Amino acid sequence: MTNTAKAGLAAGMLGSSIADLLANGIGVPENFPFSTGFSQNPLPYAYTALEPHIDARTMEIHYTKHAAAYANNLKDAAKEEGADTSKPLENVLATISKYSVKMRNNGGGHYNHELFWSIMSPYAGGRPEGKLMDAITSSFGSYDAFVTQFENAAKTRFGSGWAWLIVNAEKKLVVSSTPNQDNPLMDIAEIKGTPILGLDVWEHAYYLHYQNRRPDYVSAFWNLVNWKAVAERFQAAI
Ligand SMILES: [Fe+2]
Repeated sequence: MTNTAKAGLAAGMLGSSIADLLANGIGVPENFPFSTGFSQNPLPYAYTALEPHIDARTMEIHYTKHAAAYANNLKDAAKEEGADTSKPLENVLATISKYSVKMRNNGGGHYNHELFWSIMSPYAGGRPEGKLMDAITSSFGSYDAFVTQFENAAKTRFGSGWAWLIVNAEKKLVVSSTPNQDNPLMDIAEIKGTPILGLDVWEHAYYLHYQNRRPDYVSAFWNLVNWKAVAERFQAAI
């Protein structure tokens, strides 16, 4: 796309939704309620809070070592490459092909973990309600069919990566997966959209407790999904 075409697209999309903007690589409005900064936010619950499904030791190492490293390395990359850290990180992700592999891996890594912590909660689980449930049923046929498709994406992602539930440019719900720390906001993503639910299937997310049993970890995840938080992201994305 030429710069002129991009400018025209941006001008024509001023009233469009976040999903439209992101899907076209335009970035996000500054008032998007779920935009992500370049620093790690406090974990919204204790390391023990998600037990027995995610053990405290895994949570502590995951948050203080792995996720913290992504945030720190992202700050370095942003400084080295002149990214505007006063703007949402989503703007960088939407144009990630212009940046280094370091920015791609750490920008994705930071964003993905911030989202991951936010859509889990102790005493969560159950099923979505209201418009989100209606949209899931409309898009996948049933809630159970959605679960099957999402679990399949998580279980079959070769090596390290993520499974996603996203709102695409047509405002439809789609399940996808990405390798490494890529995500659907990136202009290099095969399937683009706004992620509203994500599951980390890197071994660092589950190996201490589940060892090679990734399917058991994936199944346990449903006990932790904060559907209220997912629904809020869904509402903001449509
Ligand atoms: Fe992780």
